[in-house]
Amino acid sequence: MSVLSEFTMDDVPIDEALRQALPLLEGYGDAMVAYALIRTGLANALAAGEKSECDLITEFAAAYRPAVLKGLIRHAVGAGLATKRASQITGTERLRAVVASAGWFRLLIGGYGPTLLAMAEPERDPAPNQVTCKGNDMDLPRNLQEVKVGSCMMSSYGAFPAVCDMLDTFACPTPPIVLDVGCGDGSLGPFLKRRGSQLRYVGIEDPRVIPSEPLRASSGPDSTGGESGIARVSLKDYVAGLAQDERCVIVLSFVLHEILAQHGEGPLRELLSGFAQDPRIVGLVIVEVDPAPTNARLQDSTSGRGYYNLYYLIHDITKQRLMPRAFWERLFADCGFNLLDVEHISEKADPLRLEIVFLLERG
Ligand SMILES: C[S@@+](CC[C@H](N)C(=O)[O-])C[C@H]1O[C@@H](n2cnc3c(N)ncnc32)[C@H](O)[C@@H]1O
Repeated sequence: MSVLSEFTMDDVPIDEALRQALPLLEGYGDAMVAYALIRTGLANALAAGEKSECDLITEFAAAYRPAVLKGLIRHAVGAGLATKRASQITGTERLRAVVASAGWFRLLIGGYGPTLLAMAEPERDPAPNQVTCKGNDMDLPRNLQEVKVGSCMMSSYGAFPAVCDMLDTFACPTPPIVLDVGCGDGSLGPFLKRRGSQLRYVGIEDPRVIPSEPLRASSGPDSTGGESGIARVSLKDYVAGLAQDERCVIVLSFVLHEILAQHGEGPLRELLSGFAQDPRIVGLVIVEVDPAPTNARLQDSTSGRGYYNLYYLIHDITKQRLMPRAFWERLFADCGFNLLDVEHISEKADPLRLEIVFLLERG
């Protein structure tokens, strides 16, 4: 029996079906347009004040076709992101909220949009026409550049302030290097500086994560700063190259669950145990997310429905393995680290308090 003959639209009056179903597409369309406004730079331009449609199109014409800009502006007005009076366009309060939350859009739409589309493709094993179950070990695509930029933009509201507070512990007479592993676009470095920290910052990105990915400055009108100064090296290789009298604190912010899924628990334990034996490593600051997808609070909150529902889905289907706080605490202790502090990041940035920051020192 074909799928189509199992269920017919006769069972549901079409007007009622559309009333219930189309808001889902409205959310999708508005979110896609919001993302495009962010990426093109139109969002910032509109948030800055009133402009004529013609001026806006001229401003971005070098990078985008007028038809695209015109269409985006029209949709933005329809979605309540901008208003149009005569031919003057102004960003609304809603648009300014989108600009402030740009990281969430860049991560979920720019970074994981390709993943969510690919998830619907049946996976076939070598036997023709045999559909296999998907596990969480599959290689669905993602746009890592957007994941990194979006994640760092989000972290600047919650994880980075908490990490900096913990790093203050190490502001001793000979301050250690802050080694930010899986640093994304490296924006923790400037963030530390703006807070007046004297700690020397080094961001590293492991070239094996996406070997073919060129390390490039983020581009476009909404550029969040370049990636210059980020070392493309593995954590193991970087630490091996440290001088005997150098000291460092390793930051792993939303990275450990990726290493766990990609390499397995054994190799992760080996890596951490090695660091616990190394006098050059004075401590670790780790940020992780509690895996609580069945938590009823998710459905009752804006951040649950708008963000965490998708975030957990992405972790179900990609090479990332979120683990509960108790797992990490046991792992750190087994590997020879003492837990000095554990905090949730600020409630403003994470109302559900699912993000956890651990401060560890060598035992
Ligand atoms: C979600 S981003 C986190 C970016 C940033 N640390 C933050 O706090 O927002 C995850 C980062 O982990 C890195 N990553 C993924 N797998 C890794 C691995 N096996 N070893 C080191 N870094 C990895 C990615 O390149 C990416 O920069």
